[in-house]
Amino acid sequence: MKTKLALAGIVALILIISCNRSDEPNSVLLNTGWKFKTGDDPAWATPAFDDRHWGTVDPSQIWEEQGYKGYDGMAWYRLKIPIRSSLKDPNNTKDSLQIMLGKIDDCDQVFLNGELIGENGRTIYSRLKPGNEFTREKGIWNLERRYILALNDPRIHWDNENLIAVRCFDHGGAGGMFGKPFEISMRGLKDHLKFDFASEIFKFSGDSMVTKNLSVINLTGTEPIKGELVIEVFQCDNGIRIYSDRSIVDLPPHLKIEKTATFRKNISVPTILKVSFTEAITRKKITEEVEVPYILTPKSPGAPRINGAKVFGVRPWSPLQYKIAATGQPPLKYLATDLPEGLVINPENGLITGSLKKKGEYIVKLTVENLIGYAERDLKIIVGDLISLTPPMGWNSWNCWGLSVSDKKVRQSADLMKSSGLIDHGWSYINIDDGWEDTHDKNGNILPNYKFPNMPALCSYVHSLGLKIGIYSSPGTKTCGGYEGSLGFEAKDAMNYAGWGIDYLKYDWCSYGNIVPDPSLEQMKKPYKEMKHALRKANRDIHYSLCQYGMGDVWTWGAEVDANSWRTTGDIEDSWESLSGIGFSQAKGSPWSAPGRWNDPDMLVVGWVGWGPSLHYTRLTPSEQYTHITLWSLLAAPLLIGCDLSQLDAFTKSLLTNDEVIAINQDPLGKQAVPISKNDDYEVWVRDLENGSKAVGIFNKTEKSLNVPVEMKDISLNGKWNMHDVWSQVDLGKVRGHFEMKTSPHGARMVTLTK
Ligand code: GLA
Repeated sequence: MKTKLALAGIVALILIISCNRSDEPNSVLLNTGWKFKTGDDPAWATPAFDDRHWGTVDPSQIWEEQGYKGYDGMAWYRLKIPIRSSLKDPNNTKDSLQIMLGKIDDCDQVFLNGELIGENGRTIYSRLKPGNEFTREKGIWNLERRYILALNDPRIHWDNENLIAVRCFDHGGAGGMFGKPFEISMRGLKDHLKFDFASEIFKFSGDSMVTKNLSVINLTGTEPIKGELVIEVFQCDNGIRIYSDRSIVDLPPHLKIEKTATFRKNISVPTILKVSFTEAITRKKITEEVEVPYILTPKSPGAPRINGAKVFGVRPWSPLQYKIAATGQPPLKYLATDLPEGLVINPENGLITGSLKKKGEYIVKLTVENLIGYAERDLKIIVGDLISLTPPMGWNSWNCWGLSVSDKKVRQSADLMKSSGLIDHGWSYINIDDGWEDTHDKNGNILPNYKFPNMPALCSYVHSLGLKIGIYSSPGTKTCGGYEGSLGFEAKDAMNYAGWGIDYLKYDWCSYGNIVPDPSLEQMKKPYKEMKHALRKANRDIHYSLCQYGMGDVWTWGAEVDANSWRTTGDIEDSWESLSGIGFSQAKGSPWSAPGRWNDPDMLVVGWVGWGPSLHYTRLTPSEQYTHITLWSLLAAPLLIGCDLSQLDAFTKSLLTNDEVIAINQDPLGKQAVPISKNDDYEVWVRDLENGSKAVGIFNKTEKSLNVPVEMKDISLNGKWNMHDVWSQVDLGKVRGHFEMKTSPHGARMVTLTK
C-alpha cells in the first residue's frame, strides 16, 4: 500500500512537472506597486519626487482599461524596487542585468534612478545622453521592452532601493504598458541559448506517429556553448514518459543544431514535449516545454452527414445561394424536396439557387446519398427582411495576407476552401479585406487596384465553387491600410459591389475618425446608416459587417443601422493575452445577439497567420486554440478563418471541422452564451440551444491543469441530465447537481446537457 501510494505520489509529481508551465527562476517581479499619472514633467524621472498621491496601475493592462478611457498623449509610470546583489551569479562576472517591461503602446523612455537607460526598446548604454529628447516612433507598440545593463553600470543601486520611471507617449488607440514579463533578472544561459520550436510545426502521419523538428541556437557572438541536451515527451494525464533522447552538443557562437523527435502517441491525449539543456561547466540548466497538438475531432464517417446552417434567411427577389454542406464518401448525390417555386438544386454539388418573390417560411427536405447510405435533414428558408440567420462562416484575407492580398490569393483560398473539404462543414464566405482598392474614377465608380484585374470575374469564379465573396471598405476617405475609402461614394460603391456579385461588406471606421475625432453617438451611427440605405437600394443580400471596434457600445444599436454583425473589440492577435482579453469580456453584448445580429469578437487566429507577406504558425498553444474555437462557438460569433489555407495542417483542420462544435455556433436559436461562473482561475459559459439543451464551455485560465467545478443549480438545472462531450463527440453519462471537468492549461472543454 505504502509503495503504491509513494508511486502515485511520484506519478503525481511527474504530472505537475510535465504538464504545468514553470516560472523563470532568480528574478525580481515587477508586476505590482506601480504608480501612474498622465501628463509630463522631467521631475517625475527623479527618485526624490514624491509620488504618494499618484494613482496605482496594473502594468499588464493598457491604461484605457484602468480608468483612462480614450486618453492619448504623455503619461508616467513609477516603481520603487530593491535590487539585491544575491541576484548576481558569482561564477559569471560577464553577466548583465536585464529589465523587462512587457510591451509599451506606443513609445517609452525608461529612467533608472533618474538616468535614461532605454528608449523605444533600445538600451542606452552611455550615461551622457540627455534625457529629454523623446523620439515618438510609430508602429513599435508591439515590441518587447528589454533593457540590458552591465553589472558595474553605476545607474544600478545594488542592495538599495531603485526607482524605475517610464515616460510614455501614446499616439492613439490603446496606451501604455501591457503584456508580460515585468521583471528584473540576470542575463544567463536562457538568454544565450534559444530553443526554436516555432519554425516548424508538429507533423502527424498515420493515426499515431508525430514528428517534431526543432533547433537549438547559440545566440552569443563570442562564446561556444557545450552541454547535454535532453528531449522528452510526457503524457499529461498520467505523467508517463513516452519518448526520450539525450545528446551532447557543442555549439560554436552564432550556430545552431537541428534535432528531430519522432514518437508514437494516442493522437487525442494531451502530451507535452520538454527540452532541457545542462551546461557542461556550470551545470546550469534551462528547460522549456511545448504542448503537442492533440486531435479530439473524430474522423467524418463514410456514410453521408448533413452539416451547416439549418435555417437560411433571404430577402424577396434577391438572388439566393445555399450550398448543402455534407460529408461522406464521394460521390455524393444531393436532393431537395418541397423546394419552393423559383429555386433549383444541382444534384451534383448540392447548390440551391434562384430567388423567391413572396415573404414566408418554407421547409425543404434535404437528402444526401452515397453508396453507403443516406442522410436527411430539414432546411428552413425564411423569406423576409433578415439575412444571416446563423453567424457567417468563412475565410478573410487580413490575418494572413494583410495588405498583400491579391486576386490570385483569393482564388487560391476559394479553391482550397473546396478541395480541403472545409466547404462540406458549412464554411462558405471568401472575404477580401483591405488592400484591393485603387481610386474612384471620374464617374464615381470604385476601381480595384492592379492586384485585382477583374472583380466580376473573381466573384463569379468564387460563386461557381459554391462559395460566397466579401469585400471591405471604410466610411472615411481612407481605409486603415491607407487605401481609398467610400466617403461621398456610398451609393455608387454599394451598386458596384452588388453588380460585381459581392455577398458581404466589412465597413471599417478607420479615417472616419478624422472627420469626427470625438464622435457623439449619433455621429457614430451616421456613416453606418448611410451605407445601410445604399446597400438596401442595391437589391442584393449583402451581409453588413460593422467594424468600429465596439465604440459607443455598438451591440446596443448595431441592429438599428441594419448591421448583421459588429466588431466588439480592437484587432485580435495570436497571443493568450489578446485571445482571453477579448473572448472573456464578451458578456456585455449577449442580450443583443440574435439571428441576423451577431457580436463579432474578431477573426480566428489559428493556423499560419501573419498580417502580411510573411507568415508564422499561430503562437497560441493547442489548448489555447481549443479555447478560441469553443468560446467563439458559444458566443455565436462570426467564424472567419484568418490563416493561409494552403498550409492547413491536420490539427488546425480538426479544429475547424468538428460538426458538433460548428452546430453550436450555428444553432438556430441564435442565443449567445453567458458566464455563470467567473474567477481568476476559470470561467464557465452556458448557451441555450434550440432543442432545449444547454451547451456548457469550461475554461481554465491558469497555467496548470485544473478540475473546473460546475454547479448545475447555477444553470437552473434540476434532476439528471445527459452529458455529452462535444469535441470528442462521446456521451459521458448522466449528471446531477455538480460535476467537474479536467481542463488543460489555458484549455477548454465543451459539453451539452440534455434532459
Ligand atoms: C482594421 C481592422 C482589421 C483590418 C484592418 C485593415 O485594423 O480592425 O480587421 O480590416 O483594419 O486595414
